[in-house]
Amino acid sequence: MIREVSLEKAHRILALSPVTFVSSATEEDKNIMPAGWVGTVATDILSLVMDSGNYTRRIMEKSGYFILQIPRAAQADLIIELAKSRHIHEDKLEKLSFFDPSGQGYPLLEDCLAWLVCEIIPEVRNQTVYDLFLGRIVAAWADDSVFYDGRWHLDHVEPENRPVHYVSGGQFYQTGSGFQLADPFK
Ligand SMILES: Cc1cc2nc3c(=O)[nH]c(=O)nc-3n(C[C@H](O)[C@H](O)[C@H](O)COP(=O)(O)O)c2cc1C
Repeated sequence: MIREVSLEKAHRILALSPVTFVSSATEEDKNIMPAGWVGTVATDILSLVMDSGNYTRRIMEKSGYFILQIPRAAQADLIIELAKSRHIHEDKLEKLSFFDPSGQGYPLLEDCLAWLVCEIIPEVRNQTVYDLFLGRIVAAWADDSVFYDGRWHLDHVEPENRPVHYVSGGQFYQTGSGFQLADPFK
């Protein structure tokens, strides 16, 4: 049976893209939070919806960039933990370790699967009206046990090391099993 979905919940139909962590930093401060409302706009441009009340947004607007990192299923508790706002939880970053492979001051959270650094393309109306940020990818790294030859390879990967999708109410899914057709684009 095909049932109608209320418009209030319809956006959750697309809640199967991977959950990300968004981080950003200035010289004085940095922050990180989970974000699911992330998308691809072009091969080098991504979108991110960032609520105006989030502490992370304040830092992004000062630094001019955001980093998307792809957590693994083993970090599901951390995803929930980092959804607490730094406005209230001042010690939110205390137990976290960041690294900076480019030496340019980008805070990449350790133990994730992949990282994308995006320079914000200023679009004031989108940012003000829709909380929508566009970012041009300027650097990227990935764990080469799961992302190599320019794409994800997840079939051999244990469940705890797969990306996750967050649907609602504490329910996650791991990216599932793949299947291969003859390459239709060759
Ligand atoms: C799985 C998940 C996905 C989320 N996705 C978003 C998102 O895409 N955009 C957003 O503004 N907030 C999102 N949130 C909520 C923020 O993470 C939350 O408001 C957080 O407290 C912001 O932290 P900050 O104030 O320290 O920046 C999400 C939360 C969870 C648990």
